[in-house]
Amino acid sequence: MQEEAYLSDVGKSLRDLWRHRPGQEIPAAVLDTVDALWPEPKPRPQLTHKKKTPGGWHLIFTLPPGVSFREVLNRQEYFADACRGFVEIRKVAGYCHINIRAGHLENHYPYQWDSAPYQSMALPVPIGYSPALEVLDLAEAPHLLVAGVTGFGKSNYLLGLIHSLLPVAKVAIIDLKRLQFSYLKNHTALAKNEKEAVQLVGALNREMERRIDILESAGVEKIQDYKGDMPFIVLVIDEVAEISDPETIRLVDRIVRLARATGISVVAATQRPSKRVQLFKDDTRDMFAARLCYLMPDEVSSRMILGENCPLAAQLPEVKGRGIYKFGVTVKEIQSMHLPLRQAKKLLQGQEVNVWDVTQSVKRLPPR
Ligand SMILES: Nc1ncnc2c1ncn2[C@@H]1O[C@H](COP(=O)(O)OP(=O)(O)OP(=O)(O)O)[C@@H](O)[C@H]1O
Ligand SMILES: [Mg+2]
Repeated sequence: MQEEAYLSDVGKSLRDLWRHRPGQEIPAAVLDTVDALWPEPKPRPQLTHKKKTPGGWHLIFTLPPGVSFREVLNRQEYFADACRGFVEIRKVAGYCHINIRAGHLENHYPYQWDSAPYQSMALPVPIGYSPALEVLDLAEAPHLLVAGVTGFGKSNYLLGLIHSLLPVAKVAIIDLKRLQFSYLKNHTALAKNEKEAVQLVGALNREMERRIDILESAGVEKIQDYKGDMPFIVLVIDEVAEISDPETIRLVDRIVRLARATGISVVAATQRPSKRVQLFKDDTRDMFAARLCYLMPDEVSSRMILGENCPLAAQLPEVKGRGIYKFGVTVKEIQSMHLPLRQAKKLLQGQEVNVWDVTQSVKRLPPR
């Protein structure tokens, strides 16, 4: 009898050692919580699968007879406290899934995107981890301004955003610095110089007018209510201050002010809006309801992007991809996902070529 107790103690110590290996802190905390809440010999949830996720862990349990899903769900707080994180418990096909996201922000999250959980949004795009993944319905915003000093992740963010949009929207890009978007020329409408840029935004203006007419004849006020084929369009502008042609600026301005109902969004990135580089007229700037601001050199610049009462972007740690996200009443520190160029290029492999010549598509329409 004594021997049995001794062996069981040894077994328990070994199990504890194994359970509390470095890097396994979260699963160990969950299993310790299960032990405490369902003491032996009571039946208890059994761990059958565990997987590390970008922001935490995903654990799957089977529930033996006598343990109900509700029982686990009701103990959510215990798990959250034990892991010092955010816990989500769901039942999928009879299994109990526990999703834990670490309570602190990591300095690096690899790019990973699946729009499936965001079916209620018309045009979901990832913003970054906070530490739960923050997702914006771009159709709601409908424009997003991205800012920050050089080298802290604006272009990288745009890259991830474009890849998240490719399967569901038409994407137009103005990249006058000609840095990294060229590989997307067969999948987007890409303008690499001032001449192409003015043609592109001219065509988008005509497309916008065409859409206004169609929606008007159909008697609907916005694209979300329109039953016909009308994909969302997103115009992505990296380094918007590089645009010097006044006609291009006027046409972009017009899209920003009129495009909401017609499903055309603008995502514009800039280093810092100074008085000298006045990007848009003030009332146009207000249309960028969503803001994502990486590190700023001073509080004045932070306030220019995030609003009078928000100096936070000047106080961020010097971490690439760390930013402040603001939309409506939401103000959150986020860490955006990292998508290195060579990995982005790989994402295109296997995607069918889908050249979008917006100038052509508009021209080819029959006269009204
Ligand atoms: N979210 C991120 N996580 C980790 N590293 C990142 C992230 N975003 C960017 N980086 C790193 O920082 C480098 C610079 O990023 P990026 O080119 O996006 O900056 P930028 O803000 O566009 O700068 P610039 O104003 O000079 O164009 C990238 O090459 C990458 O190595
Ligand atoms: Mg850049």
